[in-house]
Amino acid sequence: MPEDSTSLPIYERVEHAARTIRARFSEEVRVALVLGSGLGAFADDLEDSVAIPYDEIPGFARSTVEGHAGRLVLGKVEGTPVAAMQGRFHFYEGYSLAEVTFPIRVFGLLGVSSLLLTNAAGGINVAFDQGALMIISDHLNLMGVNPLLGPNDARFGTRFPDMSEVYSRDYQEIAVEEAHALGMELRRGIYAALSGPSYETPAEVRMLRTLGADAVGMSTVPEAVVARQMGIKVLGISCITNLAAGVIDQPINHEEVMETGARIHETFKNLLRRLIPKLQ
Ligand code: HPA
Repeated sequence: MPEDSTSLPIYERVEHAARTIRARFSEEVRVALVLGSGLGAFADDLEDSVAIPYDEIPGFARSTVEGHAGRLVLGKVEGTPVAAMQGRFHFYEGYSLAEVTFPIRVFGLLGVSSLLLTNAAGGINVAFDQGALMIISDHLNLMGVNPLLGPNDARFGTRFPDMSEVYSRDYQEIAVEEAHALGMELRRGIYAALSGPSYETPAEVRMLRTLGADAVGMSTVPEAVVARQMGIKVLGISCITNLAAGVIDQPINHEEVMETGARIHETFKNLLRRLIPKLQ
């Protein structure tokens, strides 16, 4: 296998990345996490960890967003081996959705069966407070593009995958139970994904509410779709870092998004620590 695998078909590129990761971390990883804006610090606390910068994994893009570290951390949570992405790739950075979802395909080939996707999102549901955590029950893909467009390699999964239960109902129940055990309130709702990077207008937020969305963001949906094609069970958690545009009369900025992530970090960490060992 050449060092530079960029000319290879996607399946072989994914295999190459998976081999590179296996050579650095020998435990069988069954649970993978993607840590969203402001939520990356969870990976710093993994036990017996190995951190691999994305530029050392063939086929991985580079994370260009402030607040996204850009490395894969492998380690344990309460004894459960996990792979955690500290920083993800976004469509708005100019990456194709094939690039955005490449790590999910690598997780699939590593044998991952459970994927926990986290993100920062704007709250559309007026009952949501800033700093609330929302379990994603379903999504609206309003990015204008699907990550499975183009030739399909059947080794990844079927051409027309079912999306009737993208976010595992079992996992949603487990998340609610664990949150209750911690005395935390957890919201549940529908996540709408737009391409970004500009935030929404108030009119767009009203449109999204009419469509049934409870929160809005710029990620997660492509990764969830690719994971489902590969038969990986998905749990999605949004941190409502701000109220969406027009919900209150106040502009939105990335600093606020990051600050809210940092503020709820302890709660978020406690929930993940309890939850992850149960996602088997
Ligand atoms: N809109 C879109 N994406 C976001 C937001 C928002 O209000 N907050 C954090 N990510």
